[in-house]
Amino acid sequence: MAKRHPSFVCQECGAVYTRWKGKCEACGGWNTIAEEAGSASPMAGPVATRPSRAKGRIFPLEGLSGESKEAPRTPSGIAELDRVTGGGFVHGSIILLGGDPGIGKSTLLMQASAALALRGERVAYISGEEAVAQVRLRAERLGLGQAPVELASETNVEDIIATLSQGRPPALAIIDSIQTMWTETVESAPGTVTQVRGSAQALIRFAKTTGTAVILVGHVTKDGQIAGPRVVEHMVDAVVSFEGDSGHHFRILRAVKNRFGPTDEIGVFEMSDQGLREVTNPSELFLAGRDMATAGTAVFAGMEGTRPLLVEIQALVAPTSLGTPRRAVVGWDQSRLAMVLAVLEAHGGLKLGMHDVYLNVAGGLRITEPAADLAAAAALVSSLSGNPLPPDTVYFGELGLSGAIRPVAQAPARLKEAAKLGFSGAVAPAPRLEKGKPEKLPLATSSIGHITDLVAGIAARRRKAS
Ligand code: TYD
Ligand code: MG
Repeated sequence: MAKRHPSFVCQECGAVYTRWKGKCEACGGWNTIAEEAGSASPMAGPVATRPSRAKGRIFPLEGLSGESKEAPRTPSGIAELDRVTGGGFVHGSIILLGGDPGIGKSTLLMQASAALALRGERVAYISGEEAVAQVRLRAERLGLGQAPVELASETNVEDIIATLSQGRPPALAIIDSIQTMWTETVESAPGTVTQVRGSAQALIRFAKTTGTAVILVGHVTKDGQIAGPRVVEHMVDAVVSFEGDSGHHFRILRAVKNRFGPTDEIGVFEMSDQGLREVTNPSELFLAGRDMATAGTAVFAGMEGTRPLLVEIQALVAPTSLGTPRRAVVGWDQSRLAMVLAVLEAHGGLKLGMHDVYLNVAGGLRITEPAADLAAAAALVSSLSGNPLPPDTVYFGELGLSGAIRPVAQAPARLKEAAKLGFSGAVAPAPRLEKGKPEKLPLATSSIGHITDLVAGIAARRRKAS
């Protein structure tokens, strides 16, 4: 091994320095740099011990048969999980599953492992955090005590690979979690980024040579980064995050990166006392218990990947006694809210400077689509004016800084979902006409082109009511 000297590694992003610094220049993190013993280059260890040296062989792009083939996959049998991975675990691929502690990562993976094992595949579940008895107890609680999953409680990557290499290669191996793993080829302490990266490298090499699909569990820090394993994000084939609010039962599985499938699909689960239950009709779930008579709520007809999803957006606009009014948002982008408020003030004639504004996406869902602008604006105007919105209407549309409301993609799919759930109207921008042919919409849509139309429409409801 090359000469060893201490190096200073950022525990957030993995940048290596020769001296300690207070601030990492690569990621901007403060006080994230720690001293690690061992080689300055974390690559040196694993690469040096590479078993075979197939010296840069070159292959033709078109393959042998000339026909294109889908990557071979093993479906998990859990439809919501397969939707996110793009149809199952690709052989030899590596997935990083991130999520807050206690969100249900181990539960989901135990259910997936058991489902595969019960279909006759070899599945190994390696826990570095829990004893075998604990893992077994959870499986029993999930009613999966009889599934022939191979369990191990182990943290040394070389031992794990040696065990997995015996017999036929597993179809799926779960490493729970990558932060607890350590490899002999790197001399830093377990849990440091160098160890995480070295361990991940060894496991990736194992996956690629044997065709085993490997899932690495990664914990998330309070600011939403996958701690440490952020450095492995670029090495893995897919990064999937498991999200949810501890106050709610819903859990959302979302692909952040996927080399073998879509990245905008979500899987929806509900945590029950028998583990995670798939939710095949999420709109119904997110709209359950909706308060229809109160001002300040609007139903947004959203899209998550190819699936339409209706969700309630709640706003509260209340007079403030503070010099600087509060703007708080849950489930949506803070700067997006600031933009919608600015447009409402500049072009909608609303005065919000003396009001606190709270915006919440019901059910613990996080929305990233700009199409939610119009629904958020409608909820805000409704709350400020005290006029409830029609309960049987959905809203969607993107708001421009000029106050113009711009058409969004997949309008027919959104309207169809709303019609299916019993809504009778929609407020949305006029859809883009395709080749001049007016499309038949499944729902009565009042097309609006500017934010003033929305404000006037909501104000008119009071006049009608009084
Ligand atoms: P777990 O899968 O251990 O979370 P993670 O691996 O992401 O840290 O899930 C832990 C939580 O899930 C715990 O708070 C209890 C809850 N839970 C249920 O509600 N029902 C169940 O059947 C199981 C197994 C767990
Ligand atoms: Mg766990």
